[in-house]
Amino acid sequence: MPPLDDAWWRDAVIYQVYPRSFADSDGDGMGDLPGITSHLGDLRELGVDAVWLSPFYPSPQNDAGYDVSDYRAVDPRFGTLADADELIAGAHAQGMKFIVDLVPNHTSDEHAWFQEALGAAPGSAARNRYIFRDGKGEHGDEPPNSWQSVFGGSAWERVTEPDGTPGQWYLHLFDVTQPDLDWGNSDVRAEFVSVLKFWLDRGVDGFRVDVAHGLVKEQNLTDWTQAGPVLGGLDVGPPPPMWDQDGVHEIYQQWRSVLDTYPGGRILVAEAWVQPAERLARYVRPDEMHQAFNFAYLDASWSADPQRKVIDESLAANDAVGATTTWVLSNHDVVRHTSRLGYPVGEARMHGIGIDDPQPDTALGLRRARAATLQMLALPGSAYLYQGEELGLPEHTRIPDEFRQDPAWFRSGHTERGRDGCRVPIPWEADAPSYGFGPSDSSWLPQPPEWAEYALDRQRGVPGSTYEMYRAALRLRHEHRLGANALTWVDTPADVLAFRSDDVLVLTNFGSAPAELPLGARVLLSSAPLDDGRIPTDVTVWAAV
Ligand code: NOJ
Repeated sequence: MPPLDDAWWRDAVIYQVYPRSFADSDGDGMGDLPGITSHLGDLRELGVDAVWLSPFYPSPQNDAGYDVSDYRAVDPRFGTLADADELIAGAHAQGMKFIVDLVPNHTSDEHAWFQEALGAAPGSAARNRYIFRDGKGEHGDEPPNSWQSVFGGSAWERVTEPDGTPGQWYLHLFDVTQPDLDWGNSDVRAEFVSVLKFWLDRGVDGFRVDVAHGLVKEQNLTDWTQAGPVLGGLDVGPPPPMWDQDGVHEIYQQWRSVLDTYPGGRILVAEAWVQPAERLARYVRPDEMHQAFNFAYLDASWSADPQRKVIDESLAANDAVGATTTWVLSNHDVVRHTSRLGYPVGEARMHGIGIDDPQPDTALGLRRARAATLQMLALPGSAYLYQGEELGLPEHTRIPDEFRQDPAWFRSGHTERGRDGCRVPIPWEADAPSYGFGPSDSSWLPQPPEWAEYALDRQRGVPGSTYEMYRAALRLRHEHRLGANALTWVDTPADVLAFRSDDVLVLTNFGSAPAELPLGARVLLSSAPLDDGRIPTDVTVWAAV
């Protein structure tokens, strides 16, 4: 058995910080590492166990930092390596673990390796680190296969050879500035082991692995004629040739063996849009990663049956490999759950919302989101929170299109609004410039006028506020060890979902009429006030029994 502390992640609550939008220390409108360090005390007060930081490495920022040009440094927009050291040490001093993002599927086109590849000949060692191929057709002017970029358009781009002639094509599953690495190449494998060690030696407690299901492509790059992959989408059917290939697993086994040589329980968490649950659970087998985000849960419809089904299936698949389940409702790639849940139940999830789209019902969305969060935080396993959800922040659904930065908006020919709406700098103080995001008025995406009412200083100490609900939930979750207990379903009328976690009963009412609490149950926390002792629609209650 590893020392107890090494298993910290099994039931940890991990808070995602999106560095561009958390806190700006110098007033340039872009969040930065010193800004995060200055708010670590607030995260401690909230009661999370760990922080995951989205990429802060040097990057042209064509995909908000998921286009990395140097894996061992800090982008000057965010600070310096010394600032990163201070942040890691600061989190540890507050008793929190600290996880960084690793982006191994692709580099930026500004990465030294890709620049070298562009200047090198077809078939050279430099080109072989990426996926370069000759084009099809008599003049090689058609892409090597039919794959589509996740952000829209072809997944191939033709280069001009050093002699000025039209040349080979390279694969980019995401933006044209994000060339895919070839994970069959030994330089690539060795480089990422070295990058892991670089950050482990600096004291990080783990890595969130970007596009973990994408590193290995089917060998023949077989055409894939079905609709292109969708960001944040779960395809049904057998894995397409670019996703979830069996070969990814030996990479993670190797990384695991590296992490296991470090003390303190260093972890890997997979961002893998993979279904069904059994396929996803392969990423968290005992010799691979520790966690994999459960996106099927995030996607589940807001009603009792689908919720119970996804919880059951997730727990069963993870139990079968000895892993805990990792729950999540929001992140920087999806419409915030406060807004997703403000649409009629069963409506397809949108990839971004614009001013001329049907707008969510904000009050309904927040009510359901609070209920969803209380359900999630009582489930066995680990849970991830996305910055701002503790304030009940909705998606910014009215960003004027000229401010949009998400490559998905541009590559989809302006048909997908994309992810900017969940990435707006968060409000700390109602009456300060940029709502306390930074010392100036500037913010890289506009903040909506109603942000003031969500500011932390308007909610701190206010009974019933979303912030105080999250704090109370995290405190009670620890006290009652909700993340560590097993779940037992309790029989209830249809439309009410109820389970026990040791001495705590968790009930969510998805129905249209108020539901009764069992006799003698003592309410510990509820996502909205009860109605004459009964649980109203779209409310979750934790009760001691
Ligand atoms: C998933 C990341 O979460 C997303 O933000 C990014 O655009 C893609 N991977 C590509 O790195």
